[in-house]
Amino acid sequence: MREFPFAELLRPELRDLTPYAPHSGDYAIRLDSNEAPDLLSERAKARLLEVSAETAWRRYPDPAARALRSALAAHSGVTPAEVVAGAGSDELIALLLTALSSPKAEHDAPVVLTTTPTFVMYQMSARVRGQRVLEVPLDADWDLSESGIRAAVRVTEPNLVFIASPNNPTGNLLSRSRIVTLIEALPRSLVVIDEAYVDYADGNQLDLYRQHPNVAILRTLSKVGFAALRVGWLIARPALVRELDKVRLPYNLSSPSQALATLAVTELAGELKATVEVVVRERARLSAKLAELGFRVTASQANFLWVQTATPAADWFDALKQRGILVRSFHPRGGRLSHQLRLTVGAPVENDALLAAFGELLHA
Ligand SMILES: Cc1ncc(COP(=O)(O)O)c(C=O)c1O
Repeated sequence: MREFPFAELLRPELRDLTPYAPHSGDYAIRLDSNEAPDLLSERAKARLLEVSAETAWRRYPDPAARALRSALAAHSGVTPAEVVAGAGSDELIALLLTALSSPKAEHDAPVVLTTTPTFVMYQMSARVRGQRVLEVPLDADWDLSESGIRAAVRVTEPNLVFIASPNNPTGNLLSRSRIVTLIEALPRSLVVIDEAYVDYADGNQLDLYRQHPNVAILRTLSKVGFAALRVGWLIARPALVRELDKVRLPYNLSSPSQALATLAVTELAGELKATVEVVVRERARLSAKLAELGFRVTASQANFLWVQTATPAADWFDALKQRGILVRSFHPRGGRLSHQLRLTVGAPVENDALLAAFGELLHA
């Protein structure tokens, strides 16, 4: 049978892209995806089961996710009209790129401005939509580069700007004054501040959202113990929320996800806080021990550490993998990333195993 020649119908951008596939294989210890350790109490797990059992299985989910939206709004200190809930922040990134995609008069395609290194989905989701991506390299301290921002806004006016703060993979908060410079330099662009790791940080940027009409904030439950639910949310002006609701698929969040995420940010909010406290404590311990072992560790405001290795990161990555520990290395991207590892802060026993492995490898 002759095959349908779909290749000629594909977007040309797809030729150069590979699917997002962060890991493969089974590992005793997974510290590669910035998930939270499993610290939920038995009582919390029992409540999650009880609430799952109440699902009206034959019914479609609430298309407006009203209960969840209200719960997320209260959790974030905004109103429900300012919240769009999505299947992870990934979906909201895609929604924004789809909705805000009318090219500016001077450009042939919409432009997205972001940093490098940062969360890869900004550029991947933009590219699959045929959008242009301008990546401004972070400076030597992994902060927004002042000269880079100035140069970028001189050459282009993006539709969207994505800034992660705390940034992934570097873990640091980006300088407030530089974020403000960017926001003020681009009043006709939407600046999305991605706060996926905000629960682990000393502060948030919600005040920038309140002060500037061109700012929106992204949040997620994935990093505080509920990655399985796939629930993220965007905080934006109601007028933008209404437009995004036109683009969003009506049943984008399953009924169990809506109900369990609502439970997570209301009744189980104390459990989330307790998980964050353990991780923040462990972050300090892991960071100090790694520094004692001679590694340079960037001060982290997230649930992972950005660690510089004297020898190639690829060797550390492989050696840890052989010991059943999966971390994240960015060595295929070369340059200054070839000597950096990203280590998710795990449960105390996982962090002990990681430290023991580093100790052994250093003395091997
Ligand atoms: C900065 C940042 N934003 C968004 C996400 C995606 O989060 P979600 O699981 O909510 O799609 C990640 C996940 O690694 C991230 O690091």
